[in-house]
Amino acid sequence: MPIATRSSGFTESVIREMSRVAYQYGAINLAQGFPDFPMPAPMKDAACAAIHGDVNQYAVTWGSPALRLAVAEKYRRWYELSVDPDREVTVTCGATEAMAATFLALVDPGDEVIIFEPFYENYGPDAILADARPVFVPLETPGWRIDPDRLRAAFTPRTKAIIVNTPHNPTGRVFTREEIGLIAGLCVEHDVWAITDEIYEHIRYAGGHHPIACWPGMRERTVTISGLSKTFSCTGWRLGYAVAPERETGAIRKVHDFLTVGAPAPLQAAGAVGLAFDADYFNHLALDYRARRDLLCAALAEAGFDFTVPEGAYYVLANYSELSDLNDVEFARWLASEIGVATVPGSSFYHDRSQHRPLVRFAFCKKLETLERATDRLAPLKARV
Ligand SMILES: Cc1ncc(COP(=O)(O)O)c(C=O)c1O
Repeated sequence: MPIATRSSGFTESVIREMSRVAYQYGAINLAQGFPDFPMPAPMKDAACAAIHGDVNQYAVTWGSPALRLAVAEKYRRWYELSVDPDREVTVTCGATEAMAATFLALVDPGDEVIIFEPFYENYGPDAILADARPVFVPLETPGWRIDPDRLRAAFTPRTKAIIVNTPHNPTGRVFTREEIGLIAGLCVEHDVWAITDEIYEHIRYAGGHHPIACWPGMRERTVTISGLSKTFSCTGWRLGYAVAPERETGAIRKVHDFLTVGAPAPLQAAGAVGLAFDADYFNHLALDYRARRDLLCAALAEAGFDFTVPEGAYYVLANYSELSDLNDVEFARWLASEIGVATVPGSSFYHDRSQHRPLVRFAFCKKLETLERATDRLAPLKARV
């Protein structure tokens, strides 16, 4: 019996495959974006206390009151955005589920959804699950900038939504106030949803974070998505959230209910503790990541890679054309097996994977010791090619 066409087109996540390749060759895993250092102790304590305190049954489907309140308070505190925790917040199993539930709740078959390219690899399958038509707009090199004319040309009467991911995976761009303003203007003009992915909002080295929901006319046409995975180094906890106007939140909550019923109850209790951390925590998070970024970027430049220094998130998308003529999948395998550093082939972040793009992505969400071992391995690279 054939499997559904919907899923038969899905390829296995290349990122997870590269983690397996890393294991096979004993390579240092700079492929998948998960930290190899511990999450904050007060959150771990709060999770244990919740489990021992018997918070082990279903939470309210759309999120425990304490976590929804903490999410609403977060938006007031950081962005002066007022959010109703009872009517406008849905707690989900990660930003990943928030994005899929939002697509299914808001997008009809045949609707067009604009996605900047390169893009985080889940957005393509999200569009397929919703039967939407992804319309890709390239970020222009050098610098991975938005070309206003190309973006404008991508809006059509069928456009339903645009995905706004800043800080951006895989390029490390933090979109400027002007760029967000341009997108907001087009959304208002064409009556289009902005569906955001702000999972790296607290990991920035240059520029402010500008949630598009704060722009005039955008609060009512934005689904703001974020989560705890990256801010609190707990990618395995699977906690995210979507903030949207009441009517759309109602739709997102229904989809979320049928997909997962709810996010893990004891971890939600601990999530509320993390969101209330003082500014010191968030400042240190960014400063620690800056040190990791600087270490890796210096080594990559020395080894002969060409790249735009990331302004946010924790990835470097590096061009290796000075080092090799191999295609990106072959080069990533070679780097893992011969040099001992695992990366993700750049084609994973493009819809047309057949085009030659000499790019690999390095993740630097690792202990300094891990990055130092990786940089030692990369040092002789120039001599090896
Ligand atoms: C841009 C982006 N969005 C979402 C996610 C996943 O978020 P979550 O763990 O909350 O599902 C990632 C993880 O790498 C990511 O890079």
